[in-house]
Amino acid sequence: MLEQLNTLRKEFEEASAKVSSASDLENLRIKFLAKNGSVTMLFEELKNVSKEDKPVVGKNLNELKNFCQSVFAELKEKYESAPDSSGRVLDLTLPGREVLTGKKHIIIKTMDEIKSIFKRMGFSVYDGPEAESDYNNFEALNFPADHPARDMQDTFFINQKFLLRTHTSPVQVRVMQNQQPPVRAIMPGKVFRNEDINARSYCLFHQVEGLAVDTDITFAELKGTLFAFAKEFYGSNIKYRFRSSFFPFTEPSAEMDITCYLCNGKGCRICKHSGWLEILGCGMVDPNVFKSVGYDEEKYTGYAFGMGIERIALLKYGIDDIRLLFENDTRFLRQF
Ligand code: PHE
Repeated sequence: MLEQLNTLRKEFEEASAKVSSASDLENLRIKFLAKNGSVTMLFEELKNVSKEDKPVVGKNLNELKNFCQSVFAELKEKYESAPDSSGRVLDLTLPGREVLTGKKHIIIKTMDEIKSIFKRMGFSVYDGPEAESDYNNFEALNFPADHPARDMQDTFFINQKFLLRTHTSPVQVRVMQNQQPPVRAIMPGKVFRNEDINARSYCLFHQVEGLAVDTDITFAELKGTLFAFAKEFYGSNIKYRFRSSFFPFTEPSAEMDITCYLCNGKGCRICKHSGWLEILGCGMVDPNVFKSVGYDEEKYTGYAFGMGIERIALLKYGIDDIRLLFENDTRFLRQF
């Protein structure tokens, strides 16, 4: 009889290893553990065992039964849809629930990409406050009081002295006030302008500012650096051009265009059929700015640039309304 027990145990082990569904499991139960199952039946046979052998055989048989029941219980947990403690039934055939993980907003993603390119070129990243002094936002950047250039950027004033920064250029001032050249800095952040809200413009947007100051920085270096950036970010096939422009804090000033990467410069709706897209404003730091931060304007030269992030992200992801970026509707944000 002991031998029979061993064979049965092996049989059970083999059979239980093959169980892969609730119905397999039920068959296993019927075959071994049900009223007429082979393990249960052995208890009947125990009657016929001699008195001397009974204790040993009985003990072994009980062990076998316990073993089979514990394996069965384990498998049952796995395969059977039994109501759990809260009374809910686990239905393993239902499709899984989507796990919602947080992810970066496309504006942050775009800024991160821009930052990482400049970091590889040796720039450090700085930030500054969104509520700024009029001095840092305008005065130190060579916008004299009551100068019409201030109207280029419609400002949210907090009081006489403070405002919401209209560009990231005041961070240039902060960086230069705090460190001597050489400076190579990238300054990303939010900026605010009192503009009409529509599909193209919003009262809040993001910029990435750049600044390099040293003893012999030239316009050629500005062009080389920005072209290297643009090739890396927009693709190596793009062509670029600089158009002269005006900013109070740079002289000379320029705007950089690249060939439209959607139509390869042929002209399309996005580039208004010109073949070109404006990507940033830039220029050589005006000596007056160096004076206001206490740099020797005879010794140092530098360049600065600033680009808007929203437009880049809208173009890149094919979005036609800037307001969608700020409404935080997860149905929209989740797509990217
Ligand atoms: N601050 C400018 C703007 O917001 C951009 C700029 C930055 C231009 C640095 C030149 C140099 O329009």
